[in-house]
Amino acid sequence: MKIIMLGAPGAGKGTYAKQITQKYDIPAISTGDIFRENIKAGTELGKKAKGYMDAGNLVPDELVCDLVVDRLQQEDCKNGYILDGFPRTIPQAEALTEALKKQDDGIDFALEINMADEAIVERMAGRRVCEKCGATYHIVNIPPKKEGICDECGGNIILRDDDAPETVKKRLEVYHEQTAPLIEYYKNLGLLSVIDGSKGLEQCVADISAVLESK
Ligand code: AP5
Repeated sequence: MKIIMLGAPGAGKGTYAKQITQKYDIPAISTGDIFRENIKAGTELGKKAKGYMDAGNLVPDELVCDLVVDRLQQEDCKNGYILDGFPRTIPQAEALTEALKKQDDGIDFALEINMADEAIVERMAGRRVCEKCGATYHIVNIPPKKEGICDECGGNIILRDDDAPETVKKRLEVYHEQTAPLIEYYKNLGLLSVIDGSKGLEQCVADISAVLESK
């Protein structure tokens, strides 16, 4: 099962990708997480990506496409995967389609998590992440068991660098300009399903499962 998660920043892609991973035992590949890990490790890729991310812009396509295509060759992807945050531009989507076509392969589902911008801004204000393992929480909707401490690894829970309100606004603008056209791209390929992301976590996960089990 090969799945793409589409949706604005903060729509819930990472949260649902994690649930799907657990349910269907396929890896979730988040380009945002890959960049954050590289920033933390001080790699060349991380140094190049940081400026773009902190400003709320996309990292250039040439730094992203090969990285993802290579990642999909790894053993854990042989039964499928969830792509969270990739593709994000039409050239990225075309590069992915072409790379998969060469292997006589293709994406099975493109799930758009649909949320109004105002609701996203509200949600993002409450988002916190673990600085150690990257697990995501929401201070009201999905809080950790112990305030400020990650349930999974005991790390500290912090505000993400690019979650400052001004940066969120910029990320939403970039989403509408550069990423939203992918909705039409995957609709034309007959792969798109739209999930109403304004519902609670359990209902959204149930709606996603219903789509994945419909084929
Ligand atoms: P990335 O890390 O991919 O960020 P994003 O797409 O902006 O998405 P987020 O991680 O912010 O949100 P999400 O949709 O995963 O929501 P979440 O599950 O956390 O990318 C970061 C940056 O990296 C980009 O800006 C760009 O610079 C660069 N980048 C990455 N990929 C790239 C690419 N392919 N090309 C170029 N550049 C790239 O949920 C949000 C909050 O809501 C959480 O607090 C969560 O707990 C809560 N929540 C979720 N669902 C529910 C629910 N149903 N009810 C209540 N609360 C909920």
